[in-house]
Amino acid sequence: MSVSKPLPHDAARLHVTGQARYVDDIPLPAGALHLAFGLSTVAAGRIAAMDLSDVRTAPDVVAVLTAEDLPFSNDVSPSAHDEPLLSDGTVHYVGQPVFLVIARSHLAARKAARKAVISYEESAPLLTIDQALAANSRFEDGPRIYTRGDAAAAIAAAPRVVAGVLELGGQEHFYLEGQAAAALPGEDGDMLVHSSTQHPTEIQHKVAEAIGVPMHMVRVETRRMGGGFGGKESQGNALACACAVAARLTGKPCKMRYDRDDDMIVTGKRHDFRISYRVGFDEDGLIHGVEFVQLTRGGWAQDLTLPVADRAMLHADNAYYLPHVRIESHRLKTNTQSATAYRGFGGPQGMVGIERVMDHVAHDLGLDPVELRQRNYYDAVEGGAAPRPAASPRDILEKKKDNCTPYGQPVEDFVLHGLTAQLLESSDYAGRRAAVAEWNATNPVLKKGIAFSPVKFGISFTLTHLNQAGALVHVYQDGSIHLNHGGTEMGQGLFQKVAQVAASRFGVGMGAVRITATDTSKVPNTSATAASSGSDLNGMAVKAACDKIRDRMAAFLAGYFGAEAVEFVDGKVRAGSQELSFEAAAKLCYENRISLSATGFYKTPKLAWDRIKGEGRPFFYFAYGAAVTEVIVDTLTGENRILRADVLHDAGASLNPALDIGQIEGGYVQGAGWLTTEELVWDDKGRLRTHAPSTYKIPAFSDQPEVFNVALWDGRNVEETIYRSKAVGEPPFMLGISAWLALSDAVAACGAGYPALDAPATAEQVLRAIGRLRDGV
Ligand code: MTE
Ligand code: MOS
Repeated sequence: MSVSKPLPHDAARLHVTGQARYVDDIPLPAGALHLAFGLSTVAAGRIAAMDLSDVRTAPDVVAVLTAEDLPFSNDVSPSAHDEPLLSDGTVHYVGQPVFLVIARSHLAARKAARKAVISYEESAPLLTIDQALAANSRFEDGPRIYTRGDAAAAIAAAPRVVAGVLELGGQEHFYLEGQAAAALPGEDGDMLVHSSTQHPTEIQHKVAEAIGVPMHMVRVETRRMGGGFGGKESQGNALACACAVAARLTGKPCKMRYDRDDDMIVTGKRHDFRISYRVGFDEDGLIHGVEFVQLTRGGWAQDLTLPVADRAMLHADNAYYLPHVRIESHRLKTNTQSATAYRGFGGPQGMVGIERVMDHVAHDLGLDPVELRQRNYYDAVEGGAAPRPAASPRDILEKKKDNCTPYGQPVEDFVLHGLTAQLLESSDYAGRRAAVAEWNATNPVLKKGIAFSPVKFGISFTLTHLNQAGALVHVYQDGSIHLNHGGTEMGQGLFQKVAQVAASRFGVGMGAVRITATDTSKVPNTSATAASSGSDLNGMAVKAACDKIRDRMAAFLAGYFGAEAVEFVDGKVRAGSQELSFEAAAKLCYENRISLSATGFYKTPKLAWDRIKGEGRPFFYFAYGAAVTEVIVDTLTGENRILRADVLHDAGASLNPALDIGQIEGGYVQGAGWLTTEELVWDDKGRLRTHAPSTYKIPAFSDQPEVFNVALWDGRNVEETIYRSKAVGEPPFMLGISAWLALSDAVAACGAGYPALDAPATAEQVLRAIGRLRDGV
């Protein structure tokens, strides 16, 4: 059976030989046109006057459009209809598209876009969290609050209290392939759109609105993305709509791609946060009560800010039972790029909050930070336990009786006790902690740090209706299989995993299964490939489609050969004593008029979630993992390196261990990059100063841990997922938190106080924190 084999990514050879086709590689018919946006140069205000005559007369320009020229909807928002494709006369951030150039070449369009003369009536922009708070600039009336028990009373009654504030930066997606789209006008108003998107149905929907046609006249195709990481859930809408509008107007194919600087300036990034906390605990390190205030900058338009902020709240517990908890979340509106989905979707930010709390409490008590974490873990109850009323501060000490999250979901599959023990052993945590202490005692300049952090990440879209998927499978008369589903491929290996599922259902080799591009005309009404649920959802939908065809074939062959049972194994079909090749079986079924095509559908069971109250079961299950990271810091410069990382991650019964390990390695490094070197800097005019790799530092190949041991936890999903696997796309991202905590540990070796390291912990930040400790501030 193909499932569970460590097979290579289906397109690995195409990727490394440069043959894999991305949107920009698709040959377009002669006469194709190219687009570029003219961008706002101010962060807030009104356009007073706009002279585009030099743009219009620039070489090779065909047309220039402003909002007034748009034939139908001027909105590319995925949520709140607050995101015009082209400025409506007001501007809201530096980089907002104001006009659209249609030209004969990409370069001509870009050059012409620079020739606009625009004057603005500027107003004072709200750039920072403090400015937005002071102006009460928000996406909702006030903060959202989730509570359990009485956190304030529990903290007041607790033997010890610590409090603090943590600044947590955003993150640029830095997908290798930038945003891109191409639109090809067909006959009678039809439009074909190629888009580098995680969400073809959303592109179809927004394009249909933009050109004033029903969705059935728009077909969106996505073969693959060169990375998405959440940045292509909604941020591709503008390019696709611009292309479709221009294609409709000119009758020519139109293509648009952002160059790297434009991509970084125009599109949204991970939400940055300020998290303040107050925690009451006892001498044993047990948490009695905790309060979080999460402030986040959503940028100028709502986009996905509300569900991102919800998910940050839902991960404020991470792996720990918090008997009394209050989480207050402020979704602030600012004159910056519209912050958007990014691997973990707010989960990482929430989790960093509680991991900081654990680090702070351990430091305060002088307890080993792993031991402290283990004491506060959820219980390892299998099958859950009945919820009961919130504990009073007294019975916290016999605590964890209900083993429910703050939002009331029972934690039924808490594997972290065993997983942690195994990782501590395999990474020789205790031995290395002692060695680090010894090193630090004898080395005044180079200090080492080591840290552990666990992950418990909720799997499912918190908007419950998104948890559905469809598939379309054909078996041709030569026995070859055409596979299609609603998920998109962005490098994560979804297509390969799902193809392994299809091959397994028919008992054929991988060569029989052809993976095809995601296409809104094959599978309609799809959700974004997001929330790590791609293989859970599409794997199940494909299984359903394959099983329909297989059952039809089996029923026919059983009758034809007078056999009781029909089996599909090793490329053969066995019907009683008869054995024939899968090809021959397909041909026989075709000749006997058996339908060899089917759709499949799946919806995730058991979900029930009230996002306003913050109660219920938003997640089908949790994925777990843990990491131990060791770093070394040069205390004279703040420069640092990850010396070693050990990871043990729970992918359930893995559909493909090779791909899963790839996701874990990539996730860890991307998470560590977020919290260490990747720093976004805006100036006081709201201009992003870090808009190229020269100033924005993603981890390079040489930044991966020198020793990097990644293993999969040996377990099955307790829930009935596809072959009992678990989602693996996002959870490992949060393993990178251990790198940041290890830096904190190294800094702590420089003085007596608590380092209170902000993120990203760049070399400058680390140096400043060392300075504070050495000066005893
Ligand atoms: N891996 C690669 N190589 N490229 C990506 O863009 N995106 C991540 C993750 N892993 C991404 C990736 C994000 S944000 C998500 S939600 C999941 O993949 C989506 O795919 P899945 O649901 O199939 O895991
Ligand atoms: Mo991933 S942030 O859910 O696209």
